[in-house]
Amino acid sequence: MASWDIGSYELTAAQLEPVAGVSIDAVEPVAGRTLLDLACGTGNASLEAASRGARVTGIDPATRLLKVARLRATEAEVDAEWVHGDFHPLPFEDNSFDIVTSVFGMIFGADENDIAGEIARVLAPSGRIAIATWVDTGVMSEVGNLIRSAVEEKVQLPPEDRPRFDWGDEDNLKLLFADHGISIQTETRRLSFRADSPQQMSDEWADNHPVWLATREAVGSERYDRLRADILAALEAGNEDPAAMKLTSDYLVITGSPV
Ligand SMILES: C[S@@+](CC[C@H](N)C(=O)[O-])C[C@H]1O[C@@H](n2cnc3c(N)ncnc32)[C@H](O)[C@@H]1O
Repeated sequence: MASWDIGSYELTAAQLEPVAGVSIDAVEPVAGRTLLDLACGTGNASLEAASRGARVTGIDPATRLLKVARLRATEAEVDAEWVHGDFHPLPFEDNSFDIVTSVFGMIFGADENDIAGEIARVLAPSGRIAIATWVDTGVMSEVGNLIRSAVEEKVQLPPEDRPRFDWGDEDNLKLLFADHGISIQTETRRLSFRADSPQQMSDEWADNHPVWLATREAVGSERYDRLRADILAALEAGNEDPAAMKLTSDYLVITGSPV
């Protein structure tokens, strides 16, 4: 697993912050409830929930990001517990949480079936979930696919051996969670990213985002330069603001409960 501690994920986290509010809104009321924020990163959703009175545990495998989350909690004068760990398995007892949330973390797990099972296991029978995932359309998805292809080329994985669970497909998600006793609904929402230009957006990601930096390491500089050119072209084609850069992406908010 590439480390999310490299670079500066904080820049992206700031852009994703509105989704934390949307996700915690989706599981209200949270005050007094135990809430697990999976793949909490620098703590956007954890801090939002804690500020509304939830008893929050954030878990993430990135040690530096957890430190940032802890510092932000101190600055915001809210309590939360920060756990270093992975989805596989979650280091918690069965039925430990009233609420489980995750904002754009699920796709980084090794096995979607295992993640859904772990969520169902740690969730109380009367619990609720809110999970945000990108849909597999639009420029953001195109950029993700370009990165994935470059890495898969490097490890010489033929296309037919590249199974990938589509976390943006409602039918897939319903089946996945139903197999673990959770009934879900999805709502499509939109998030806009802005920069001065497509070049600035591309450079900012390339210089700071852990996934970009890990990809550079993995594929080598010649392939990485081509990848950056392809990403820039995708951003230019998808730009909604001719005077600057604006990119709007759909995402799903998956909500549900055990049945
Ligand atoms: C796109 S970031 C989202 C972070 C945060 N939820 C937010 O909204 O900013 C993805 C997060 O997934 C975490 N992650 C990656 N692989 C993971 C795994 N196997 N188990 C748990 N978290 C993982 C990363 O460390 C990173 O913090």
